[in-house]
Amino acid sequence: MTTPQSHSPLELRLIDHINRYGPVTFEAFMDAALYDEQHGYYPRRRRSAGSTPVGTDGDYFTSPSSHPAFGALLALQLEEMWRCLGSPGEFVVVEMGAGDGVLGSDISEYVERELPEFARAILYSSTDLVPPAGSEWVGDNSRLPVGVTGCVISNELLDAHAVNRFIVQGGEVKEIFVDYRDGQFVEAVGDVSDPEVAARVEPFLGLLPESYRGEVNLRLGYWSDSVSATLERGYVITIDYGYDRPELYKPARIDGSLRCYYQHTFGQNPLKRIGRQDITAHVDFTAVDHVLMVNRFERLGKPSQQEFLSNVGIDGFLDEISERASRGDMPRSESEEDLAGIGSLINPEGLGRFRVAVHSRWVGVDGEAALPLTGVGGGVALTSGHRAPTLNSASAGHARLLRASNPFSQGSSAQAGDLSTWEQLFSDET
Ligand SMILES: C[S@@+](CC[C@H](N)C(=O)[O-])C[C@H]1O[C@@H](n2cnc3c(N)ncnc32)[C@H](O)[C@@H]1O
Repeated sequence: MTTPQSHSPLELRLIDHINRYGPVTFEAFMDAALYDEQHGYYPRRRRSAGSTPVGTDGDYFTSPSSHPAFGALLALQLEEMWRCLGSPGEFVVVEMGAGDGVLGSDISEYVERELPEFARAILYSSTDLVPPAGSEWVGDNSRLPVGVTGCVISNELLDAHAVNRFIVQGGEVKEIFVDYRDGQFVEAVGDVSDPEVAARVEPFLGLLPESYRGEVNLRLGYWSDSVSATLERGYVITIDYGYDRPELYKPARIDGSLRCYYQHTFGQNPLKRIGRQDITAHVDFTAVDHVLMVNRFERLGKPSQQEFLSNVGIDGFLDEISERASRGDMPRSESEEDLAGIGSLINPEGLGRFRVAVHSRWVGVDGEAALPLTGVGGGVALTSGHRAPTLNSASAGHARLLRASNPFSQGSSAQAGDLSTWEQLFSDET
C-alpha cells in the first residue's frame, strides 16, 4: 500500500484538505494540479527559463510551435479587422493564455515586416495566469487594460480551464469528486456541487447511457466578463478544440473528453502524476457563444482551423515557398521543413480540426453593417502580395528553440508518426 510519505507536497496538501473537509470537486483538484503556485504543472514548468510545457522537452505541441505561418496568417486577419473598424490610430491586441509568447512574437514580427501601416497602430500585449520566468506580462486578468478597441485572441486557453466532471447514474446527473482512500486518490460520486452542472447536461439525458461521463466548464463566464471589460469594441478570436454542445455530449463520447499529456504520451487518468502532467478538456462552444452573447458579442462564425487558414490564404504561402525552392532561392531541405510545418496547421486529422470561433461587438462603422471577414467567409486571399515567413526567418530565439526539433516542422514522417497525440485526441469520434 502507498504510504503518505511517498506523496509529493502537492498531494499531501490535497490529502490534508480532503481529510478535513471531504472530497473535493474535480475543478478544485484540476486547478491545484495545473496552477498551484508552488507545485502545479504550469508554474513548475515555467519557473525556470528554458523549461516549457510546449515542444520537444515538454508535453505537447501547439500551432504556434509548429510554424510562424500561423502567426503570420493571424496577423493578416488582424490587419483586415483593423481596416474593418475604420483603421483606428490604436488597435490593441490582448492575447490571453499566451504561454511562452511565441504567437505574439510571430504576429509582431510579421506585422513589422509586411504590414507597415498596421504596425503603427497595433499594440500587442501578452498575458497568462502563469507568465514565463523573467517576463513582465500581466498575470491577473483583473489588471488587463479596459475599454480598448481591437481584438482579444487566445489559442488553447479554454481547454486549460479547470472543469467539473459528471456521470450519469440511475438516469440522473451526478458529479465526480476526488477523494483519498487506502493510500490513493480515487473518484467519488455525489450530488452536483452546482446546479449548472446538471442544467448543462439534462437536455441530453434521455440519450445518454448509464455511466456516461463528461465535463462542464463553469469558468467561461469569468473569462467572458474579463474579455468584455477589456474589449469595448472589436473582435474575439478563440482557437481551441471542441464542439457545439449536442456534439460534445453525444452518446458515443461515453468517457468524456478529459485528456492528460505527459512527455508526448497521452492518458486518461488525471489522478496520476499530479502536478507533472497536463490535463485538458474539449471546449463547449455553445457555452462560449452563450457567455459572450450575455456580454453583447455576436458570433460571426466558427470555421475549422483548416477552413479559416485556407480562407486567409495559406495556399499562397505554400505556393510561394515551393516557388522559392524551384528558383533555387532556398535550399530544398529548408523548404521541405517549412512546407511540412505549414501543412501541419491545416492537417484535417490534427491541428486543422481545431475551431476558430470569431465574435464581434460594435464593429459596424458609422451605423453601417459590419464588413465580412475573409477568415470566416472567404474571399480574396489576404496573403496575396505578401511573403511567407519561414523557420529561418523567425528571429525570436525562443520560438526557434521550441521549433528546433518539432517533428511537425521537419517533414519527417517517421517522427511525426510517433507523435500521434492529435489523432488520439479525436480517437473517440465515430
Ligand atoms: C495549453 S496552454 C496554451 C499556451 C499558448 N496559447 C500556446 O498556444 O502555446 C494554456 C495556457 O493558458 C494559461 N491559462 C489558463 N487559465 C488562464 C486564465 N484564466 N487566464 C490567463 N491564462 C490562463 C495557462 O497558464 C497556459 O499557459
